[in-house]
Amino acid sequence: MPGDKSISHRALMLGAVAEGTTTVHGFLASEDCLATQAALEAMGVDIVRSPDGRVRIRGVGMQGLRRSTKTLDLGNSGTAIRLLMGLLAGQPFDSELTGDASLRQRPMERVAAPLREMGARIETAAGGKPPVKIQGGARLHGIDYSLPMASAQVKSALLLAALESRGTTTVRSPGPSRDHTERMLETMGAKLELSHHGHGHTVQLAGPVTLRGGDIRVPADFSSAAFFLVAGCLGAPDGLTIENVGVNPTRVGLLTILREMGAEIHLRAERRLGAEPVADLWVKQSELKGIVVPPELVPLAIDEFPILFVAAAAAEGTTVVSGAEELRRKETDRIAVMARGLTAVGVEVEETPDGARIVGGPLRGGTVDSCGDHRIAMSFAVASLRASAPIDILSTAEVATSFPNFLEVAAAAGLLVTGGDAS
Ligand code: S3P
Repeated sequence: MPGDKSISHRALMLGAVAEGTTTVHGFLASEDCLATQAALEAMGVDIVRSPDGRVRIRGVGMQGLRRSTKTLDLGNSGTAIRLLMGLLAGQPFDSELTGDASLRQRPMERVAAPLREMGARIETAAGGKPPVKIQGGARLHGIDYSLPMASAQVKSALLLAALESRGTTTVRSPGPSRDHTERMLETMGAKLELSHHGHGHTVQLAGPVTLRGGDIRVPADFSSAAFFLVAGCLGAPDGLTIENVGVNPTRVGLLTILREMGAEIHLRAERRLGAEPVADLWVKQSELKGIVVPPELVPLAIDEFPILFVAAAAAEGTTVVSGAEELRRKETDRIAVMARGLTAVGVEVEETPDGARIVGGPLRGGTVDSCGDHRIAMSFAVASLRASAPIDILSTAEVATSFPNFLEVAAAAGLLVTGGDAS
């Protein structure tokens, strides 16, 4: 399995502004993370990648980044643009950030607005979308901010801005979201205060902070493993093992959901890899049944809904997803694109504003447009395990944004996926 995308982005950014050298093991060299690498290089950071997945970043310190002579193009990556907004908000130089056609449709005000409260001078284009312009020389100060929804990208952007702010920044979330930034910051010497009350999560960081470079080990991405967890549920009578997968509790909502649907999944050899928990996942073909997905699990499985929709289509009975309106603001409107795709292969799906009702049943072959969404393309590759004829998946090149070796791993697991524009 390829390395974790969220952790790889963070390793590059934090390594870049740390003092000393950071070596990243198991880095994900996918298009999204390479966009982050290119942006940091354009700001004067020396980054060397070796073929074995090791990356050496020569940290320049919080004051060492330089103005890029060109607009920073973050491609398809929401994490890259939003986290960099936080990192660059307090720099002495101007920056402009943009992305591909999909990213240019995604909301940036959720990050820009709280950064402005911290003192940043930041503008988004019409509708709050990229390009984003940041005026250099702002002096940032800490704020106490309550996120309207659990979002690791917004939380992380504010924590990165806090590194170069005076005073304490407090970020309050209505529920948990992935905490890789917090874990990595602590490993690199930052002192965070974390607290929980009911569902609420609060993190505090007093700036300014000097980070220390070091070794970062990246586990395999649970969100990539998710395709093979569901593939295993649908078609691995003898079981399938997925090794060295990150099982951070803020990421593994899909495990809880699949088990509730009747999946047989075991975590083996649970251990730690640096700051993150990892395990080998073992899954066996199981009869899945439809469930009502608990809305509080949505943020803990936010990237896994496309493949969960496939599991629901292959289950007996109806699965109901609600509280997941945020899916409409991902790389595509994932509720609409998945509903269209499943309908095209004979599944009964009813779209709702914040989710869907999926009736499990037989799948036929057909043509599905993933609309350039990597996770939707991979989800329909897995759906083919239960389809009576081949599924043609259109617009698959973006698979390389998160899982460049998907075809190879799929073949190793016994999935028959061929050709296309994915590499
Ligand atoms: C991510 C956070 C999530 C997730 C995205 C990666 C991150 O987005 O969907 O793929 O690395 O912080 P939100 O914070 O918008 O929920």
